Amino acid sequence: MSLTSVKKAKSSLGKARQVFLYVAPFPALVFFKIWISLGRDPGSLFIVAGSMLAYCSICLALALRWDKPTYFDWAIWAYFLAISLSLVLWKEATAPILVEYAITGVYLCLFGAAFLPPILRLDPFTYHYAKKLVPQAFWSTPVFANINRVMTFVWAGIFAICGLLSLYPSSVTRALVPISMIVGLGIPFNLLFPDYYLKSIGLPTMAAMRGSGDLSAKNAAAVSDKKALPDVVACRLEPLGSTVPPKSVQRQAETTDQSQSERSTTLKVIAINSSPRADGTSKTGIMLEALVGGMREAGAEVETVHLRQKVVKNCIGCFTCWTKTPGICVHKDDMTNELFPKWLEADIAVYATPLYHYTMNATMKAFVERSLPTLEPFFIPNEGGTRHPLRHKLPQAVVISVAGFPELAVFDQLSSYVRFLFGRGLLAELYRPAAEVMKLPEFSETSRDILSATADAGRDLVQSRKISNETMERITQPIVDPDSLAKMANMFWKSCIQEGLTPKEFERKNLVPRPDSVQTFMMIMSRGFNPLNAAGSRAVIQFDFSGEIEGACSFRIENGLIEAKEGRSEKPDLTIQSPFDIWMDIVTGKSDGQQMFMEQKYKAIGDLSLLIRMKELFGNR
Ligand SMILES: Cc1cc2nc3c(=O)[nH]c(=O)nc-3n(C[C@H](O)[C@H](O)[C@H](O)COP(=O)(O)O)c2cc1C
Repeated sequence: MSLTSVKKAKSSLGKARQVFLYVAPFPALVFFKIWISLGRDPGSLFIVAGSMLAYCSICLALALRWDKPTYFDWAIWAYFLAISLSLVLWKEATAPILVEYAITGVYLCLFGAAFLPPILRLDPFTYHYAKKLVPQAFWSTPVFANINRVMTFVWAGIFAICGLLSLYPSSVTRALVPISMIVGLGIPFNLLFPDYYLKSIGLPTMAAMRGSGDLSAKNAAAVSDKKALPDVVACRLEPLGSTVPPKSVQRQAETTDQSQSERSTTLKVIAINSSPRADGTSKTGIMLEALVGGMREAGAEVETVHLRQKVVKNCIGCFTCWTKTPGICVHKDDMTNELFPKWLEADIAVYATPLYHYTMNATMKAFVERSLPTLEPFFIPNEGGTRHPLRHKLPQAVVISVAGFPELAVFDQLSSYVRFLFGRGLLAELYRPAAEVMKLPEFSETSRDILSATADAGRDLVQSRKISNETMERITQPIVDPDSLAKMANMFWKSCIQEGLTPKEFERKNLVPRPDSVQTFMMIMSRGFNPLNAAGSRAVIQFDFSGEIEGACSFRIENGLIEAKEGRSEKPDLTIQSPFDIWMDIVTGKSDGQQMFMEQKYKAIGDLSLLIRMKELFGNR
């Protein structure tokens, strides 16, 4: 049997116990009533009532051991105790009353269990069942109390009517009508009223609340055992402790009947990607994919969520999640219904954001703001400042971000923010500057190493919750010097503006950025170099530019490699003398090289076969 199936079997056993506890005492009433109806010897009544008392005592003991007895458990037990004592003390008088009114006694006992507790300022009987279905944060709210009070009094009314009807001796008044009322009125009311009430005051339904709270019905049952109640600590979005074991382990540790050997240690990770760009083009996505790949390899269970595909509305600051429905957001969107519960379930949350205006982007910030239900409203002094207490254990945080600028310092503000926000819960920060050039062929080797280091970081995080300095250095390694990056970026943006195209459109059309200097021309030629086509070739090609931009450069091609050099070469095999603009028109495909040559717009001196092969040697886009 696999670990999962063991887990499933255990959880269904838990449910089976719960159902057993709910219904266990009622067959005693039915059996006792049938026994009386069959007109058995009144002398045997004491034995049967005593046996039922013993049976109900066992049910009570089991309820005490596994959960908590309901008022019905106590009431039915008291009913049989009273009957047994009466039969001992006043056998002759009790037996005929029982024969005539046992069923009225049953309804009276149910009525007492429903009606008396709220009158005596105890919890209504429905609390016991409702607490298994509703997040704990909701239990102390007036809404929860109101719903349960109404349901309790409706049940008390039904039992009272059943009791009154049963005074008339007929199977219609004693069984048919009461059972119809319980099944046809009481139970449907019980199922429908809470959602009706919640909707009528503009709150989310029970299903949405269960989705939002961290307490599933199963966990709530554990809470009634006082085992799964999260500690409340004063801090920011910090999880409790910096080396918390996987929640899967914590959850199982809280389950009393789960043996040590059956515990799964699978680390649950939620990877949240806030880049608006689709995978493939998004550098955030590419880096995250590598990290997640490493985490999976190390055995973590990772779910990646792309916020661009989800509806996460902005927090509207209504504080409903702090007051009316503690822990539950008023919005009914993907955050409430799906992301928030998944995030709370995770051991680690990876926050992957592109750097926008030196911090996380608005999409990620909206996600962070929507975590407000995890906090309680109260102010608590903390380390010289003020904090809100946490309602939940939060996942540990890993932040990964990419930026266009080349300096690592562009992440300083983001880093300062996430360190403050996540505090001790922040496991790691992975920052990749100059990320946009990772897609360029001339940087493919460095990019590969960066991505492989990011995957190593994912493995390290799962295995040791740390990333080694060496891996970090590989992730942040310089990919291009800032000066060259600026030249390349400016050439690219100028080209996009000239063409009237967005970067995406520009790339889709497979256009070549128009060099605006000899240096950028050298970059573009090196990028366009096709090593396969050049294999076996050995040549030096020189360019002499005139016109608006003057200057010279040369390219040495050897063994499938290219070396660009500014200035003239001693012995070029081919020299092209051209106005800069003419040659740039050829490079960007605006005019045809051969046509321009025929029209003598430029001159070629030396090995003209190299001129003919120009497209073949530099046509790698
Ligand atoms: C609105 C906006 C703001 C940006 N702000 C910065 C910034 O402050 N610093 C920076 O280096 N790059 C900045 N960038 C560039 C992005 O960080 C960079 O393009 C990154 O690769 C985008 O990630 P993606 O590929 O996952 O979309 C900004 C981009 C946008 C669209």
